[in-house]
Amino acid sequence: QSSVLHKFKGILYSTMCSEELLNSLDFFNAREDDVFLVSYPKSGTHWVAEVIENIPNVSMSLTSPIELGDISKFEELNMYCKRRVIPTHLSYNMLPMNIKQKQCKIIYIVRNPKDTAVSLFHYYRDNPNLPGIETWAGFLELFLRGDVVYGSWFDHVLSWEEHKNDKNILIIFYEEMKRDLSKSIKKIINFLGINVSDSEINKITRKTSFSEMKNNAAKENCDPNHTICALTTNRNLVFRKGAVGDWINYFTSKQKRVFDELFTEKMKDSELARHFEDSS
Ligand code: A3P
Repeated sequence: QSSVLHKFKGILYSTMCSEELLNSLDFFNAREDDVFLVSYPKSGTHWVAEVIENIPNVSMSLTSPIELGDISKFEELNMYCKRRVIPTHLSYNMLPMNIKQKQCKIIYIVRNPKDTAVSLFHYYRDNPNLPGIETWAGFLELFLRGDVVYGSWFDHVLSWEEHKNDKNILIIFYEEMKRDLSKSIKKIINFLGINVSDSEINKITRKTSFSEMKNNAAKENCDPNHTICALTTNRNLVFRKGAVGDWINYFTSKQKRVFDELFTEKMKDSELARHFEDSS
Protein backbone atom coordinates (compact mmCIF):
# COMPACT_ATOMS: atom_id res chain seq x y z
CA GLN A 1 0.00 0.00 0.00
CA SER A 2 1.05 3.57 -0.53
CA SER A 3 1.95 6.06 2.19
CA VAL A 4 -1.25 8.09 1.91
CA LEU A 5 -3.29 5.32 3.53
CA HIS A 6 -2.76 3.18 6.62
CA LYS A 7 -4.62 0.25 8.06
CA PHE A 8 -6.35 0.40 11.42
CA LYS A 9 -8.17 -2.70 12.68
CA GLY A 10 -8.10 -4.10 9.16
CA ILE A 11 -9.62 -1.01 7.48
CA LEU A 12 -7.82 1.57 5.34
CA TYR A 13 -7.85 5.22 6.44
CA SER A 14 -6.04 8.32 5.25
CA THR A 15 -2.77 8.94 7.08
CA MET A 16 -4.31 12.35 7.90
CA CYS A 17 -6.48 10.37 10.32
CA SER A 18 -3.82 9.49 12.87
CA GLU A 19 -3.65 6.12 14.53
CA GLU A 20 -3.75 7.74 17.98
CA LEU A 21 -6.93 9.59 17.11
CA LEU A 22 -8.56 6.43 15.71
CA ASN A 23 -7.49 4.65 18.87
CA SER A 24 -8.94 7.33 21.14
CA LEU A 25 -12.36 7.84 19.58
CA ASP A 26 -14.08 6.46 22.65
CA PHE A 27 -12.70 9.39 24.66
CA PHE A 28 -14.72 11.82 22.55
CA ASN A 29 -17.13 13.83 24.63
CA ALA A 30 -20.39 14.05 22.72
CA ARG A 31 -23.01 16.69 23.49
CA GLU A 32 -26.64 15.73 23.48
CA ASP A 33 -27.45 18.21 20.72
CA ASP A 34 -24.62 17.11 18.38
CA VAL A 35 -25.65 16.08 14.88
CA PHE A 36 -23.55 13.53 12.98
CA LEU A 37 -23.45 13.44 9.23
CA VAL A 38 -22.36 9.94 8.33
CA SER A 39 -21.68 8.27 5.00
CA TYR A 40 -19.45 5.98 3.02
CA PRO A 41 -17.24 8.26 0.85
CA LYS A 42 -18.88 9.63 -2.32
CA SER A 43 -22.45 9.14 -1.18
CA GLY A 44 -23.43 12.83 -1.18
CA THR A 45 -21.97 14.07 2.10
CA HIS A 46 -21.12 17.55 0.80
CA TRP A 47 -24.63 17.86 -0.56
CA VAL A 48 -26.36 17.16 2.74
CA ALA A 49 -23.82 19.35 4.56
CA GLU A 50 -24.72 22.19 2.20
CA VAL A 51 -28.42 21.69 2.91
CA ILE A 52 -27.78 21.95 6.64
CA GLU A 53 -25.56 25.01 6.24
CA ASN A 54 -28.31 26.75 4.31
CA ILE A 55 -31.02 26.34 6.93
CA PRO A 56 -31.81 29.93 7.94
CA ASN A 57 -31.60 31.33 11.47
CA VAL A 58 -30.22 28.31 13.20
CA SER A 59 -27.22 28.35 15.33
CA MET A 60 -25.14 25.41 14.11
CA SER A 61 -21.50 25.02 13.11
CA LEU A 62 -20.18 22.43 10.73
CA THR A 63 -16.91 20.97 12.05
CA SER A 64 -14.29 18.99 10.17
CA PRO A 65 -14.60 15.16 10.26
CA ILE A 66 -14.19 13.62 13.68
CA GLU A 67 -11.57 11.17 12.45
CA LEU A 68 -9.44 13.80 10.67
CA GLY A 69 -6.32 14.98 12.47
CA ASP A 70 -4.38 13.92 15.52
CA ILE A 71 -5.00 13.62 19.20
CA SER A 72 -5.61 17.37 19.59
CA LYS A 73 -8.89 16.89 17.71
CA PHE A 74 -11.12 16.68 20.75
CA GLU A 75 -9.77 19.95 22.14
CA GLU A 76 -10.53 21.57 18.80
CA LEU A 77 -14.08 20.21 18.84
CA ASN A 78 -14.57 21.42 22.43
CA MET A 79 -14.07 25.01 21.29
CA TYR A 80 -17.37 25.16 19.42
CA CYS A 81 -20.08 27.05 21.27
CA LYS A 82 -22.90 26.45 18.82
CA ARG A 83 -24.66 23.17 18.09
CA ARG A 84 -22.12 21.03 16.26
CA VAL A 85 -22.70 19.24 12.97
CA ILE A 86 -19.91 16.68 12.74
CA PRO A 87 -19.25 14.78 9.51
CA THR A 88 -17.64 11.35 9.41
CA HIS A 89 -17.14 8.34 7.15
CA LEU A 90 -16.78 5.91 10.06
CA SER A 91 -18.72 2.66 10.19
CA TYR A 92 -21.15 2.14 13.08
CA ASN A 93 -18.68 0.01 15.03
CA MET A 94 -16.00 2.70 14.92
CA LEU A 95 -18.30 5.51 16.04
CA PRO A 96 -17.41 6.83 19.52
CA MET A 97 -19.38 5.09 22.27
CA ASN A 98 -20.48 8.36 23.79
CA ILE A 99 -22.44 9.31 20.68
CA LYS A 100 -24.44 6.09 20.96
CA GLN A 101 -25.01 6.47 24.70
CA LYS A 102 -26.22 10.05 24.37
CA GLN A 103 -28.36 9.12 21.36
CA CYS A 104 -27.13 12.06 19.33
CA LYS A 105 -28.94 12.66 16.07
CA ILE A 106 -27.32 10.90 13.15
CA ILE A 107 -28.05 11.36 9.44
CA TYR A 108 -26.75 8.44 7.37
CA ILE A 109 -26.49 9.12 3.63
CA VAL A 110 -26.42 6.16 1.29
CA ARG A 111 -26.03 5.92 -2.49
CA ASN A 112 -26.31 3.02 -4.88
CA PRO A 113 -23.02 1.16 -4.76
CA LYS A 114 -22.25 1.08 -8.48
CA ASP A 115 -22.39 4.88 -8.76
CA THR A 116 -20.50 5.14 -5.48
CA ALA A 117 -17.76 2.89 -6.91
CA VAL A 118 -17.50 5.00 -10.09
CA SER A 119 -17.40 8.21 -8.06
CA LEU A 120 -14.71 6.78 -5.77
CA PHE A 121 -12.74 5.63 -8.82
CA HIS A 122 -12.57 9.24 -10.03
CA TYR A 123 -11.68 10.42 -6.53
CA TYR A 124 -8.78 7.95 -6.48
CA ARG A 125 -7.60 9.23 -9.83
CA ASP A 126 -7.89 12.95 -9.11
CA ASN A 127 -7.16 13.22 -5.40
CA PRO A 128 -3.47 13.36 -4.40
CA ASN A 129 -4.51 12.18 -0.93
CA LEU A 130 -5.46 8.78 -2.35
CA PRO A 131 -3.21 6.14 -3.91
CA GLY A 132 -2.63 6.19 -7.65
CA ILE A 133 -4.57 3.61 -9.62
CA GLU A 134 -4.20 2.34 -13.12
CA THR A 135 -7.52 1.15 -14.48
CA TRP A 136 -11.20 0.99 -13.71
CA ALA A 137 -11.05 -2.82 -13.76
CA GLY A 138 -8.25 -2.83 -11.19
CA PHE A 139 -10.06 -0.33 -9.00
CA LEU A 140 -13.31 -2.28 -9.12
CA GLU A 141 -11.50 -5.36 -7.79
CA LEU A 142 -10.22 -3.34 -4.84
CA PHE A 143 -13.70 -1.92 -4.23
CA LEU A 144 -15.30 -5.37 -4.24
CA ARG A 145 -12.65 -6.70 -1.85
CA GLY A 146 -13.14 -3.71 0.46
CA ASP A 147 -9.51 -2.85 -0.08
CA VAL A 148 -10.30 0.86 -0.42
CA VAL A 149 -10.37 3.76 1.99
CA TYR A 150 -13.01 3.19 4.75
CA GLY A 151 -13.29 -0.46 3.73
CA SER A 152 -16.10 -2.37 2.10
CA TRP A 153 -19.22 -0.45 1.03
CA PHE A 154 -21.27 -3.52 1.88
CA ASP A 155 -19.95 -3.81 5.44
CA HIS A 156 -20.31 -0.06 6.01
CA VAL A 157 -23.94 0.02 4.92
CA LEU A 158 -24.76 -3.19 6.82
CA SER A 159 -23.22 -1.78 10.00
CA TRP A 160 -25.57 1.19 9.80
CA GLU A 161 -28.57 -0.73 8.55
CA GLU A 162 -28.69 -2.65 11.83
CA HIS A 163 -29.63 0.66 13.45
CA LYS A 164 -31.97 2.02 10.83
CA ASN A 165 -34.95 1.89 13.21
CA ASP A 166 -33.19 3.71 16.04
CA LYS A 167 -35.14 6.90 16.71
CA ASN A 168 -32.02 9.06 16.55
CA ILE A 169 -31.02 7.87 13.07
CA LEU A 170 -32.33 9.23 9.76
CA ILE A 171 -31.40 7.47 6.55
CA ILE A 172 -31.26 9.62 3.43
CA PHE A 173 -30.81 8.20 -0.07
CA TYR A 174 -28.81 10.06 -2.71
CA GLU A 175 -31.25 8.89 -5.38
CA GLU A 176 -34.19 10.22 -3.36
CA MET A 177 -32.49 13.61 -3.15
CA LYS A 178 -32.06 13.59 -6.93
CA ARG A 179 -35.71 12.68 -7.44
CA ASP A 180 -37.23 15.18 -5.03
CA LEU A 181 -34.76 17.44 -3.28
CA SER A 182 -37.31 19.57 -1.40
CA LYS A 183 -38.85 16.43 0.07
CA SER A 184 -35.46 15.25 1.36
CA ILE A 185 -34.70 18.74 2.69
CA LYS A 186 -38.00 18.70 4.59
CA LYS A 187 -37.14 15.30 6.05
CA ILE A 188 -33.77 16.56 7.25
CA ILE A 189 -35.25 19.74 8.73
CA ASN A 190 -38.06 17.87 10.52
CA PHE A 191 -35.58 15.38 11.89
CA LEU A 192 -33.48 18.21 13.31
CA GLY A 193 -36.59 19.67 14.90
CA ILE A 194 -36.37 22.96 13.05
CA ASN A 195 -39.22 25.00 11.59
CA VAL A 196 -38.69 26.38 8.09
CA SER A 197 -41.23 27.95 5.72
CA ASP A 198 -41.93 26.49 2.28
CA SER A 199 -40.44 29.51 0.54
CA GLU A 200 -37.26 29.04 2.52
CA ILE A 201 -37.19 25.38 1.58
CA ASN A 202 -37.41 26.41 -2.06
CA LYS A 203 -34.50 28.71 -1.54
CA ILE A 204 -32.40 25.93 0.03
CA THR A 205 -33.36 23.67 -2.90
CA ARG A 206 -32.03 26.24 -5.37
CA LYS A 207 -28.85 26.86 -3.44
CA THR A 208 -28.02 23.17 -3.17
CA SER A 209 -28.49 22.22 -6.81
CA PHE A 210 -25.51 20.50 -8.40
CA SER A 211 -24.73 23.40 -10.74
CA GLU A 212 -24.92 25.98 -7.98
CA MET A 213 -22.63 23.97 -5.73
CA LYS A 214 -20.18 23.18 -8.53
CA ASN A 215 -19.96 26.84 -9.50
CA ASN A 216 -19.39 27.92 -5.94
CA ALA A 217 -16.74 25.28 -5.34
CA ALA A 218 -14.12 27.24 -7.23
CA LYS A 219 -14.75 30.34 -5.11
CA GLU A 220 -14.83 28.59 -1.75
CA ASN A 221 -12.01 26.32 -2.65
CA CYS A 222 -9.41 25.03 -0.21
CA ASP A 223 -10.81 26.62 2.91
CA PRO A 224 -9.43 24.22 5.50
CA ASN A 225 -12.15 25.33 7.88
CA HIS A 226 -14.71 23.92 5.52
CA THR A 227 -13.60 20.31 5.28
CA ILE A 228 -16.37 17.77 5.06
CA CYS A 229 -14.51 14.72 3.83
CA ALA A 230 -11.29 13.67 5.59
CA LEU A 231 -9.79 12.93 2.17
CA THR A 232 -9.72 16.48 0.78
CA THR A 233 -10.05 20.19 1.46
CA ASN A 234 -10.26 20.81 -2.28
CA ARG A 235 -13.93 21.22 -3.16
CA ASN A 236 -13.13 21.22 -6.87
CA LEU A 237 -12.52 17.48 -6.55
CA VAL A 238 -15.99 16.82 -5.24
CA PHE A 239 -18.48 17.99 -7.87
CA ARG A 240 -17.90 15.73 -10.83
CA LYS A 241 -21.11 14.65 -12.54
CA GLY A 242 -23.76 14.45 -9.85
CA ALA A 243 -25.89 11.91 -11.69
CA VAL A 244 -27.74 8.67 -10.99
CA GLY A 245 -26.79 5.71 -13.17
CA ASP A 246 -23.43 6.89 -14.47
CA TRP A 247 -22.14 3.38 -13.65
CA ILE A 248 -23.53 2.17 -16.96
CA ASN A 249 -20.71 4.01 -18.72
CA TYR A 250 -18.08 2.04 -16.80
CA PHE A 251 -19.27 -1.49 -16.00
CA THR A 252 -18.88 -4.19 -18.64
CA SER A 253 -21.64 -6.80 -18.56
CA LYS A 254 -19.24 -9.23 -16.88
CA GLN A 255 -18.31 -6.66 -14.23
CA LYS A 256 -21.99 -6.01 -13.61
CA ARG A 257 -22.62 -9.74 -13.18
CA VAL A 258 -19.75 -10.16 -10.70
CA PHE A 259 -20.90 -7.06 -8.82
CA ASP A 260 -24.52 -8.21 -8.67
CA GLU A 261 -23.51 -11.65 -7.42
CA LEU A 262 -21.60 -10.16 -4.52
CA PHE A 263 -24.38 -7.64 -3.90
CA THR A 264 -26.99 -10.40 -3.70
CA GLU A 265 -24.84 -12.48 -1.40
CA LYS A 266 -23.81 -9.65 0.94
CA MET A 267 -27.11 -7.79 0.97
CA LYS A 268 -29.52 -10.72 0.99
CA ASP A 269 -31.09 -9.69 4.30
CA SER A 270 -30.85 -5.97 3.65
CA GLU A 271 -34.05 -3.98 3.28
CA LEU A 272 -32.01 -0.93 2.49
CA ALA A 273 -30.48 -2.63 -0.53
CA ARG A 274 -33.91 -2.95 -2.14
CA HIS A 275 -33.88 0.79 -2.75
CA PHE A 276 -31.16 0.19 -5.29
CA GLU A 277 -32.93 -2.41 -7.37
CA ASP A 278 -34.17 0.21 -9.86
CA SER A 279 -30.93 2.10 -10.20
CA SER A 280 -28.57 -0.84 -10.27
P1 A3P B 1 -20.05 12.02 -8.68
O1 A3P B 1 -18.58 11.73 -8.54
O2 A3P B 1 -20.81 10.82 -9.16
O3 A3P B 1 -20.33 13.23 -9.49
P2 A3P B 1 -19.36 13.16 -1.25
O4 A3P B 1 -19.83 14.53 -0.97
O5 A3P B 1 -19.86 12.16 -0.26
O6 A3P B 1 -17.87 13.12 -1.43
O7 A3P B 1 -20.02 12.68 -2.62
C1 A3P B 1 -19.61 13.25 -3.84
C2 A3P B 1 -20.59 12.89 -4.91
O8 A3P B 1 -21.82 13.62 -4.70
C3 A3P B 1 -20.09 13.28 -6.30
O9 A3P B 1 -20.63 12.30 -7.20
C4 A3P B 1 -20.72 14.66 -6.46
O10 A3P B 1 -20.83 15.11 -7.78
C5 A3P B 1 -22.09 14.40 -5.86
N1 A3P B 1 -22.78 15.65 -5.49
C6 A3P B 1 -22.32 16.64 -4.70
N2 A3P B 1 -23.20 17.65 -4.64
C7 A3P B 1 -24.26 17.28 -5.39
C8 A3P B 1 -25.50 17.90 -5.73
N3 A3P B 1 -25.83 19.12 -5.29
N4 A3P B 1 -26.34 17.24 -6.56
C9 A3P B 1 -26.02 16.02 -7.03
N5 A3P B 1 -24.87 15.37 -6.75
C10 A3P B 1 -23.99 15.99 -5.93
